[in-house]
Amino acid sequence: MVESQKVPMFGRLVVVGLGLIGGSFAKGMKESGLFHEVVGVDRDRETRRLAVELEVVDSAEAELAVACQNADVIQLAVPILAMERVLAELAALDIGQAVLTDVGSAKGSVARAARKAFAGKALRFVPGHPIAGSEKSGVTAANGQLFKRHKVILTPLDEADAEALANIDLLWRALGADVEYMTVDHHDEVLAATSHLPHLLAFTLVDSLAQRSENLEIFRYAAGGFRDFTRIAGSDPVMWHDIFLANREAVLRTLDTFRDDLDALRQAVITQDGHQLLGVFTRARVAREHFGKILARRAYVDAMQTKDLTYIANPGGSLSGRVRVPGDKSISHRSIMLGSLADGTTEVEGFLEGEDALATLQAFRDMGVVIKGPTNGRVTIHGVGLHGLKAPAGPLYLGNSGTSMRLLSGILSAQAFDTTLTGDASLSKRPMNRVADPLREMGAVIETAEQGRPPMTIRGGQKLKGIHYDMPMASAQVKSCLLLAGLYAEGETSVTEPAPTRDHTERMLQGFGYPVTVEGNVARVRSGSRLTANRIEVPADISSAAFFLVAGSIAENSELVLEHVGINPTRTGVIDILRLMGGDITLENQREVGGEPVADLRVRSATLKGIEIPEALVPLAIDEFPVLFVAASCAQGRTVLRGAEELRVKESDRIQVMADGLKVLGVSATPTPDGIVIEGGSMGGGEVESHGDHRIAMAFSVASLRASAPIRIRDCANVATSFPGFLELAAKAGIRVKEEASV
Ligand code: S3P
Repeated sequence: MVESQKVPMFGRLVVVGLGLIGGSFAKGMKESGLFHEVVGVDRDRETRRLAVELEVVDSAEAELAVACQNADVIQLAVPILAMERVLAELAALDIGQAVLTDVGSAKGSVARAARKAFAGKALRFVPGHPIAGSEKSGVTAANGQLFKRHKVILTPLDEADAEALANIDLLWRALGADVEYMTVDHHDEVLAATSHLPHLLAFTLVDSLAQRSENLEIFRYAAGGFRDFTRIAGSDPVMWHDIFLANREAVLRTLDTFRDDLDALRQAVITQDGHQLLGVFTRARVAREHFGKILARRAYVDAMQTKDLTYIANPGGSLSGRVRVPGDKSISHRSIMLGSLADGTTEVEGFLEGEDALATLQAFRDMGVVIKGPTNGRVTIHGVGLHGLKAPAGPLYLGNSGTSMRLLSGILSAQAFDTTLTGDASLSKRPMNRVADPLREMGAVIETAEQGRPPMTIRGGQKLKGIHYDMPMASAQVKSCLLLAGLYAEGETSVTEPAPTRDHTERMLQGFGYPVTVEGNVARVRSGSRLTANRIEVPADISSAAFFLVAGSIAENSELVLEHVGINPTRTGVIDILRLMGGDITLENQREVGGEPVADLRVRSATLKGIEIPEALVPLAIDEFPVLFVAASCAQGRTVLRGAEELRVKESDRIQVMADGLKVLGVSATPTPDGIVIEGGSMGGGEVESHGDHRIAMAFSVASLRASAPIRIRDCANVATSFPGFLELAAKAGIRVKEEASV
């Protein structure tokens, strides 16, 4: 072993009990060099001998009194029911200023025992619990690395002084543990549910089956599932006996709740309530997947500590072949919302498995809707009807998705229960008064944070009344929000838009058999009808195809076909603008799929020229401007955009962020309050910031096709919100962009 070069900070550490986790703690501490001396205490002579031989401790004693003289820290790693006796023995000794700590799996009983033993005396005790099990035991299994990247929960008592706490915190961190704090009671509740109950179930299941089959024949037919489920029944029986008795109250509480749930499931089997069964199973499966993701996320975050998600886009390249970009984001959101509120089962194909649409899906699951999938873009939604949503257990977290929050606010304003809508840092900065104000006019009760920012809390139990709303801005999200609220409002709800915006809500409502009237720029609904389940085929998203439309136009010698793209006329501004600039885009195989027009788009290289973008096209290309600015940078002459102030309140301020990035690449880009002026020319390389905005990250990836040097694009993780698999598809088509780490 390498001798530690550190000067010890402390004198003597005493670890009482070397057989369980104590050996690993002692060994790790010895390796850390923080103590001058590590002394073990164990009743078993052989354990003491081995502990010294294996360099788990410097020396080992049989008697507490001998070991604890002049101790600085005393770690109690004895079985939990032995804790009371050891604490009483310690209280009878003179341990001076020594800080006591422990590793027991239940904290209430230990804290009580310590207070009882030390009644009337100074108590410097910091209870702790490392969540780092190992089925192995005994001093020979001691492993100084055992706690690395594992959680250690400290449950400080009110009487503990800050210095004692800081020292124990420091020791665990020195072992590489992630230290967290909880109250004693909270710790015992959490552990009863997540550790003690599962052990109890595993022990009971194995025992119950074993008793039924004396020769254990039943186990011959047990497969992997049984083995996985019952692995923890192989744990130390004495230790678990101690834990259940020590954490008795909390274990009983969680067991009672579980028994109720089990009874409900039993009842569902008796009454053949398939909906209930499916509800439990799909929710459980999703929760399990979520848990898996948290674990994966932890690994990902660890990786991110050394590497932020940066793209490197290498210069040059040309595009060819046929690609199908993922499903339309706007339609995917709406398919979940209307499918959930419909009567019957809705089947969706081509669903976008991006984080934004998944946030909507999760929100409806949280409100009790049984949703299967997505599996390869297929989703099955068991609609609950307009009045079938249930109160979610907590806030609905909508990640980066403005569409989720704004459209949901309309639906939720009319429910019987309260909801809170939250999101990530970007969403938390976005304006919500544009929906909250007209909803309040309809009778909704909504609270927001300062300046109308999220979180939004929407009070249930309000009766909405229909209004006519003249939208001050061209926003499909606001229009959709009000139409959805209108499904519940007394009388008629109508919305006038200042310019045409995407009309997927109107089309899809009609597809679900709900009457909507659209006359000129006014859309109207009345409450009182129902939504009937439907089949939805989501076309490829033109907003994702836009990156390839620009890429194929600006790269030399390119010809690319984008398959099955939605060409709803409220979305095709990007095609019109590129054509006005001289782009060569043709529509092939035009057809209608489930109420939405679709085509294959062929794009060829073209010499683009700068234009004044007609303002009427702005709402029809609202999400495509970041990449259109890249087209303008490659065009001959000047491009001017006006009337696009909405771009300043998207996932980022897209005017400023694009102007900043283009300047880094040597492009003359001048922001104006409602647009930008770009002088086309040549582009260099450099490092640009996407500010976590997916479309900015992808736009600069496309810019590389005409850049003279690599472009480093920072903060790209959010590409997954709208375009999962972007890098793979970009590489397939001929864009040389990769995640930096894999370059
Ligand atoms: C969307 C509407 C647009 C668009 C957004 C999706 C929708 O937002 O930018 O990506 O699905 O209704 P606004 O309504 O704010 O313009």
